[in-house]
Amino acid sequence: MKTKFTVGSLYAGIGGICMGFNKAGFKVEWANEYDKNACITYRENFDHQLVEKDIMEVNIKELSNVDVIAGGFPCQPFSVAGHRKGFEDNRGNHFFRMLDFVDAMRPKVLFFENVKNLVGHDKGNTFKVIRKEIEDRNYSFHAKVLNTKDYGNIPHNRERIFIIGFDKNVYPENYKKFEFPLKETLTKKVKELFIQEKVEEKFYYREDKYMFDMLKKDITKEDTVYQFRRQYVRENKSNVCPTLTANMGTGGHNVPLIKTKFGIRKLTPKECFDFQGFPEGYKLPALANSHLYKQAGNSVSVPVIERIAVNILKAMNGIDCEIEKN
Ligand SMILES: C[S@@+](CC[C@H](N)C(=O)[O-])C[C@H]1O[C@@H](n2cnc3c(N)ncnc32)[C@H](O)[C@@H]1O
Repeated sequence: MKTKFTVGSLYAGIGGICMGFNKAGFKVEWANEYDKNACITYRENFDHQLVEKDIMEVNIKELSNVDVIAGGFPCQPFSVAGHRKGFEDNRGNHFFRMLDFVDAMRPKVLFFENVKNLVGHDKGNTFKVIRKEIEDRNYSFHAKVLNTKDYGNIPHNRERIFIIGFDKNVYPENYKKFEFPLKETLTKKVKELFIQEKVEEKFYYREDKYMFDMLKKDITKEDTVYQFRRQYVRENKSNVCPTLTANMGTGGHNVPLIKTKFGIRKLTPKECFDFQGFPEGYKLPALANSHLYKQAGNSVSVPVIERIAVNILKAMNGIDCEIEKN
């Protein structure tokens, strides 16, 4: 049997990227993550080496070389919601820290993921620096913003930028074969992801609860996801789930809301994981819901990763990827 290409995963979170690569036929060899609770979830679901410590303190020499280095590096310094500090912010240095791994291991392929705003950050300068650093190392540079609802057949509005690089020394021709996956028609409806039975009582808004009257007035349909925005409720007109965020479980109001025959309630953590495309059988440990919401919001949409990884594998093997027909 042909051996699988190996992956090392930085900022692994709960392993959304790892899951996508494994499903595409790669083998994740090791991962790094420093959040204690994310590591608990990760270990429930993966057996390979997980280095639980700050990436700045990881001894790169102690890790095995891998074919692919993947990193969904922290997005705060790049997001509009953050402070727009980019590389000046300490957290911005994470990009350069990933390059330390690249320089030490010289992987065949790079896979980076971030928020869409990375492209426009600091009038495009941040992105220019990223591109230059990658190209200066003789990697090809492919970048595209993909929305989960268009590329993962999950009704979730989630735009993320994906950056891929192939080592041109290893793949002087094959890197040209890489294409991002094609857009797909969204066939899945939000309601298909709602748990139809009664869930734990604490997820419901009942008559005696603050906000109930307002929610009852606005939340009327059973096939829609709603979002509470400071003083009002917003219906998602395109009938997809709004972007799940890392802070949605803290403060309570930003967890998307739905109506089922048992009442108006928040999405459960399990439903949030489903909106990220985690497969049946992915285990959620007994952590506080606030942690689970954060983990789902911080993660990636597994089917989108899988589709990109399938195309990476094709290019590595010299197989053409499908291209858009006009
Ligand atoms: C946006 S999430 C990435 C999610 C992940 N790519 C996935 O597939 O689910 C960023 C992750 O980086 C982790 N992180 C942030 N700073 C870190 C550091 N200094 N060392 C290690 N991990 C860090 C966070 O705890 C968080 O889980």
